[in-house]
Amino acid sequence: MPDPNFTLIAIDGGAASGKSSSSRILADRFNLLHVDTGSFYRHLTAELLARQVPANDLGALEKALPALKFSTALNGRSAQMLVDGRPAGDEIRGAEVNAHVSHYAAIPVVRQTLLAYQRGQVAVAKAHGFRGLVMEGRDIGSVIFPNADFRFFLHADPAERAKRRAAEGRQDSVAERDRLDSSRKTSPLTCPPGAIDIDSTHLNLDQVVDQMAATIATKLPPA
Ligand code: CDP
Repeated sequence: MPDPNFTLIAIDGGAASGKSSSSRILADRFNLLHVDTGSFYRHLTAELLARQVPANDLGALEKALPALKFSTALNGRSAQMLVDGRPAGDEIRGAEVNAHVSHYAAIPVVRQTLLAYQRGQVAVAKAHGFRGLVMEGRDIGSVIFPNADFRFFLHADPAERAKRRAAEGRQDSVAERDRLDSSRKTSPLTCPPGAIDIDSTHLNLDQVVDQMAATIATKLPPA
């Protein structure tokens, strides 16, 4: 049910499209809970790799996943997923997780495991007095919150995105993850009908954020 006193914002887009930077700024500007669902998929991937549960062993996944307990801690305005009480470590941004995350994320039982947890962030945001929530990922506007107040989809040229990731000093196969994320059967990366499509190839971060903020301010005055 839409809640007039709570604003839901979905931001989807490919690897290094600017989702995280823009959603963090919007969370500060409008006093929203920031939820980076990519970090959830990365944390779950690190956990499964550590437990030696491979992405191609459905039986082992079906056994391991229901035993995991998910909870949330706040890190400033950002929701941090805890698995069995533990926060994610730095390895979730490392080469091993980069190489495996899209393989785990393509498996329906993995996505199903995180579905209710992601929707549950609305209750977390309300319990902490936020005016709404900005959630970033691949399927937020299409699957998690298709009725969000605002749904944005960020595009950027693959070469530009690879350049941005390299400038962060991170080695990442942006194009390969996009290929896997866009071609999977369950919740593929796609701009859902009705979402606001922004091509950020030739825009800087401020310009992207200002465009989104102007739209959001039609419902929600800045905090
Ligand atoms: O590093 P980057 O911001 O590009 O990606 P991310 O948001 O950290 O997401 C890492 C991976 O998690 C993606 O490549 C997807 O395979 C998966 N993911 C997903 O399938 N669905 C989401 N809602 C978020 C992430």
